[in-house]
Amino acid sequence: MKKTIGLSTMKLQLFFILFLFTLVLCSFYQVFDLKASMERGKTIYEAQCMSCHMAEGEGLEGIFPPLAKTDYLNDKNRLIKVTVLGVRGPMKINGVDYNGEMTSFDLNNEQVSDVLNYIRNSWGNKGVPILPAEIQPALKASTKDYRPY
Ligand code: HEC
Repeated sequence: MKKTIGLSTMKLQLFFILFLFTLVLCSFYQVFDLKASMERGKTIYEAQCMSCHMAEGEGLEGIFPPLAKTDYLNDKNRLIKVTVLGVRGPMKINGVDYNGEMTSFDLNNEQVSDVLNYIRNSWGNKGVPILPAEIQPALKASTKDYRPY
């Protein structure tokens, strides 16, 4: 008799733990809405980036590097630094040399996250979301092969 009660209490506890776990998991996935972020990011891109990097992220060979399908997009920290602090100096992108400069942009954490989520998930690019909370830590991280503007 005692054993049966013990077992059902345990089952109840287990059920409760699983329930909490599911709840936490659900909220974690719902907190960040990538689609909404990309939509806001598109507006920022069109206003502040498109004049150089072009509508499809194709850039202008030898002058403005492409943002579509480039290796640099995978390096989150570098990407965040480039967007917030600008960049200068030589870089080779998809086999083409660039040696220009790009000024920094006045964007808050959420705007940086939005515009990068748009870039990283458009024109054939696919990247996990960059959250607003990741921007400041990334600016402090060390990044090789990068010079700010
Ligand atoms: C006035 C032209 C101009 C504008 C506007 C501009 N860029 Fe750039 N961007 C450049 C140039 C030039 C470089 C290459 C700099 C170099 O050679 O060192 C560059 C490089 C980059 C790179 C690094 C290359 C790569 O493929 O990863 C990223 C990322 C980038 N820009 C993102 C942005 C974003 C995001 C915006 C808008 C917020 C933006 N750029 C707006 C001119 C521009």
